[in-house]
Amino acid sequence: MTTPLSFRIHPQDGPLRVVLVGAGGMGRTWLHTLQAADRVELAGVVDLDAALARRVVTEELGEAAGAPVVVGTSLREVAPRCAADAVINVTVPAAHLPVTLEALDLGLPVLGEKPLADGLAAAATLVRAAEQAGELFMVSQNRRYDRHLWSLRHHAAQLGPVGVLTQEFFKAPRFGGFRDAMAHPLILDMAIHNFDAARFVLDADPVAVYCEEYNPPWSWYAGDAASTAVFEMTGGTRFVYTGSWCSEGLETSWNSRWRLSAAGGSALWDGETAPVAQYADGRPDDARPTVPLPPAENTAGALAEFVEALRTGRVPMGECHDNLLSLAMVYAAIASSRTRSRVEIADVLGNC
Ligand SMILES: NC(=O)c1ccc[n+]([C@@H]2O[C@H](COP(=O)([O-])OP(=O)(O)OC[C@H]3O[C@@H](n4cnc5c(N)ncnc54)[C@H](O)[C@@H]3O)[C@@H](O)[C@H]2O)c1
Repeated sequence: MTTPLSFRIHPQDGPLRVVLVGAGGMGRTWLHTLQAADRVELAGVVDLDAALARRVVTEELGEAAGAPVVVGTSLREVAPRCAADAVINVTVPAAHLPVTLEALDLGLPVLGEKPLADGLAAAATLVRAAEQAGELFMVSQNRRYDRHLWSLRHHAAQLGPVGVLTQEFFKAPRFGGFRDAMAHPLILDMAIHNFDAARFVLDADPVAVYCEEYNPPWSWYAGDAASTAVFEMTGGTRFVYTGSWCSEGLETSWNSRWRLSAAGGSALWDGETAPVAQYADGRPDDARPTVPLPPAENTAGALAEFVEALRTGRVPMGECHDNLLSLAMVYAAIASSRTRSRVEIADVLGNC
């Protein structure tokens, strides 16, 4: 699978008219993001549950909804009625495939919630569909749009070749619902964020992984809620992730706690505040070039990059070909844990 050189540019003077598909918990977050965005207009909301979609629009936007928002249960029906330019897919993972396929078939670019799809085969199908349609399909990895993460990435680039990057993720959320019943709740539902952020900071791609998943005896999850994975990344860097979703006390940030050891020094990040670095050459902080900032924070950052990409043709972070590698880290880790062996990323991608 090769990265396409281009996707269709949608030059427009007016705002990008967006249909939001999926009016659940994360759909509500996206409604606020869309409402606050400059160059975007909410044109329609689609959910299998039309009453929910209507209620969410009224509850979340109220008077602020402005021009009427078209609501329905089918994208194919709603998109032409509201003259949509693009789709944001915030449905459950199992629906990412059919909803994004439908949008691409309608000639609409898509910004989709993570994960790219529910499984690598479905993900590869979507990447090929985006190529055939010539439309942008970008996955929103909202945790990339964090100014402190960008600062850590900047340190990583300045510190020279990285030997090892470690992440510790320890939390004890009681979600209830589908996560409690999943076979791989931590790796499938959460670690995609942490793995993807590690790729971003290292500016490297995954090569292979050895992973163990397990479920502590006191866990309230049916599936494995804890894991340690050692990734080999391009350039030889090791990325070591240790996480648990049933770890009470001294919890880390949702972004995890980071340590980076490189030829030119080390950096630490608590996942919440500005990272700190110590340079082996004693270089003071102000001798470093200015740290670049994300276009905006969180989902607003992903949306800003999506709009910019559609206007200019610049390939955004999270473009589906690239995001497939983050998803492959997840499925390679699960395969390694199941087979108790080192798994090459190329092998899991070759099988789909
Ligand atoms: N980036 C983050 O931090 C973050 C946080 C939470 C959830 N998510 C992701 O957001 C997505 C949605 O999660 P959620 O927690 O909002 O789920 P949810 O179950 O609360 O909502 C999903 C909604 O999608 C609707 N839906 C399902 N299939 C559909 C279809 N074919 N057509 C139209 N609507 C359909 C459902 O009716 C439901 O209202 C998931 O992919 C999840 O992984 C991301």
